[in-house]
Amino acid sequence: MNILLLGSGGRESAIAWKISQSKKCDTLYIAPGNAGTDTTGKNINIKADDFDEIARFVKANNIQMVVVGPEDPLVKGIYDYFKNDPELHDIPVIGPSKEGARLEGSKSYAKAFMQKYGIPTAAYRKFTASEYEEGVKFLDTLTPPYVLKADGLAAGKGVLIIGDRDEAAAELGEMLKGMFGEASSTVVIEEFMSGIECSVFVLTDGKDYKILPVAKDYKRIGEGDTGPNTGGMGAVSPVSFADDAFMQKVEEKIVKSTIAGLQAEKIEYKGFIFFGLINVGGEPKVIEYNVRMGDPETEAVMLRIKSDLVELLQATAEGRLGECTLETDPRYAVTVMLVSGGYPGAYEKGKPITINGSTEASILFHAGTTKNAAGETITSGGRVIAVSSYGNSKQEALDNSYKTAAAINFDKKYCRRDIGFDLK
Ligand code: AMP
Ligand code: GLY
Repeated sequence: MNILLLGSGGRESAIAWKISQSKKCDTLYIAPGNAGTDTTGKNINIKADDFDEIARFVKANNIQMVVVGPEDPLVKGIYDYFKNDPELHDIPVIGPSKEGARLEGSKSYAKAFMQKYGIPTAAYRKFTASEYEEGVKFLDTLTPPYVLKADGLAAGKGVLIIGDRDEAAAELGEMLKGMFGEASSTVVIEEFMSGIECSVFVLTDGKDYKILPVAKDYKRIGEGDTGPNTGGMGAVSPVSFADDAFMQKVEEKIVKSTIAGLQAEKIEYKGFIFFGLINVGGEPKVIEYNVRMGDPETEAVMLRIKSDLVELLQATAEGRLGECTLETDPRYAVTVMLVSGGYPGAYEKGKPITINGSTEASILFHAGTTKNAAGETITSGGRVIAVSSYGNSKQEALDNSYKTAAAINFDKKYCRRDIGFDLK
């Protein structure tokens, strides 16, 4: 079959790599892709949220499945767009309906959903601009630090965790006044949960599900997980604390209840659910839902899926996931992100990327890369290349990635040297 994958980051590079290995895939197109994805498929110059252009391309190129990488097209309703077009109606889109995508698109919707279906999460309340005073009163019922979240999508920046009560009250006011635009016209305030985080990914056809290998990402720019938050500086799978007992609780208390909730709400959902979890004294709680795979977790998780991904996605689209088995690779997989100096703040782009030495110990997933007029690969984003590797131990996998990372050069290259360390 011909498949169109939407997106352009490291996550999409990893999904493209896995799709391209499928015996079921004839031609893979990536829109818009990056300088690396054209080694596993054909890049096409269409933005991932330009539905009209995507529709035109799908019709003209006999595309039989659309796989959506990032959240934006899902939250904007690409699933429904296809369902409502008689010519596109039967072409499966891997991802939730617009209603299902609200689990990521609106934090207050996600919290209300969790509360309704008894899914363990932090206590919360939501406030709009006219409810500022009540919001401040609610802060006073909580113990610090205070967690303030813009309700809508804010490019991963909409969460503030503040130790001081007066500062939290002031920031609440700023958020409600439009600090994150429309996204913070409603603010969710929630109880702070203390623990270690991990990412659990589920593929679901809306009734059955497969739990993919569990991963952990390292979010902050600095070693020891310090400094500003980034999109993610590296990831490992499996995760030491997410043992069988913990994962059993995740499945029983979180995954099953979420799918049951989707069914009860009659929400069409044929795609990935990303459970951002925190381990609070052995008990998993949900920090957030995302309606897509994580980045950079995908750059580790895809290495650990042995099954044919396209077969799984096809079964997802056709509601046959229950008939499938998910085979996983027992080895460790890790990814180390090479980023542009300055990221997540201001950074320069357009730096030529060169390789000096062997990269054979790893798989390179391009993220922020493009080609210049001369056909050279240059940097085009903060996160540039995810260096993923297998190993029989976590350390072996990390050694492979760091050896490869040393062979990749661009001006002001930076990576964290401590990916994989066990956070307390
Ligand atoms: P989110 O965008 O909801 O994933 O939040 C971003 C990050 O803020 C999470 O990955 C956590 O590290 C942290 N965070 C969010 N909510 C809470 C909470 N209720 N308690 C503790 N940390 C949180
Ligand atoms: N790595 C976290 C995310 O993709 O949102």
